[in-house]
Amino acid sequence: MHGKQSTYPSRIVAIHTARRGTAYDPKGLPVEPVFGPPAASVEEFLDKARAEVVVELTPLNPESGEPAISHIRAAFARGLHVVTANKGPIAFAYSALRQEAIAAGVEFRFEAVTMDGTPVFNLVQNNLPGVEVLGFSGALNSTSQVILEAMRSGLSLEEGIEAARQIGVTEADPWFDINGWDSACKAAALANVLMNAQTTPQQVERKGIGRLTPAKLVELESKGKSVTLLSRARRTPQGVKLRVRAEVLDKDDILCACRGTSNLLVLHTDLMGDIGVFTLKPGLDQTAYGLFSDLVDIVRNI
Ligand SMILES: NC(=O)c1ccc[n+]([C@@H]2O[C@H](COP(=O)([O-])OP(=O)(O)OC[C@H]3O[C@@H](n4cnc5c(N)ncnc54)[C@H](OP(=O)(O)O)[C@@H]3O)[C@@H](O)[C@H]2O)c1
Repeated sequence: MHGKQSTYPSRIVAIHTARRGTAYDPKGLPVEPVFGPPAASVEEFLDKARAEVVVELTPLNPESGEPAISHIRAAFARGLHVVTANKGPIAFAYSALRQEAIAAGVEFRFEAVTMDGTPVFNLVQNNLPGVEVLGFSGALNSTSQVILEAMRSGLSLEEGIEAARQIGVTEADPWFDINGWDSACKAAALANVLMNAQTTPQQVERKGIGRLTPAKLVELESKGKSVTLLSRARRTPQGVKLRVRAEVLDKDDILCACRGTSNLLVLHTDLMGDIGVFTLKPGLDQTAYGLFSDLVDIVRNI
């Protein structure tokens, strides 16, 4: 985003980390800032930083969404806009946070949380007026895809995990992906925003890819079938139902089209039928673009 600085002038006035320390400069920090001792608390950091927008990028806590939820609340309490790439707050507390942002008169943006910056939330909000999202189906977890591809070629689950590690897509604990928790967090985030589901990842019915064997996958392959870890949502009279499951599909099903780190989401809608969003081999640049696009949008709206 460096080359865009003259069109979109901005300054990073402070960075706070857990162990590396905290850096401040109201004139704008360099790309490689010098960190001093960490601020005693996020509240102290925010008071000293005097920023207009907070970008929350702590790791996901899949059990509670914390500490990111508290960080975001501390920003709202100070009248600061918030952008995050952390799916925890959206998966666990979207409805409450949205109300709090409205009450504080600030913007709350999170485009990067499910598709690495490819527009999903903005697509629905800005380009599909009057459309109701009735459900969705998505291949949203890169690690499971890489592991399944490895196993389809006859490698073991452990060798698949190693392949995913080598291309840098696994979380610290790969079982978070394998057991479907990452997909459940993404499903809850999507459903909370697009379908007002007011749910949490714990409420997602979930079965990961851990019980599959290379022999089973090779056998299915020979019958023209393929296994993909899918997150699905559908509206029912009892509310929004969410499910993550390794599904057996025909090999030419569009939901099996993802390879490697690519992700696919199909939205099932009332007025537009099924609409697909595909992100091809996303990396850090795409996530960074998601944050950048949120920042640009906030400036447009205030
Ligand atoms: N990387 C991606 O491609 C990508 C894509 C989409 C979404 N995301 C999401 O974006 C977020 C950041 O990802 P990442 O890959 O940049 O993670 P990361 O490399 O683990 O960095 C996390 C940062 O948060 C800091 N931190 C942790 N706990 C903190 C606390 N309590 N207070 C203040 N700072 C704290 C860490 O500080 P120390 O360095 O000092 O430990 C570190 O600087 C995650 O929620 C991730 O799920 C990432």
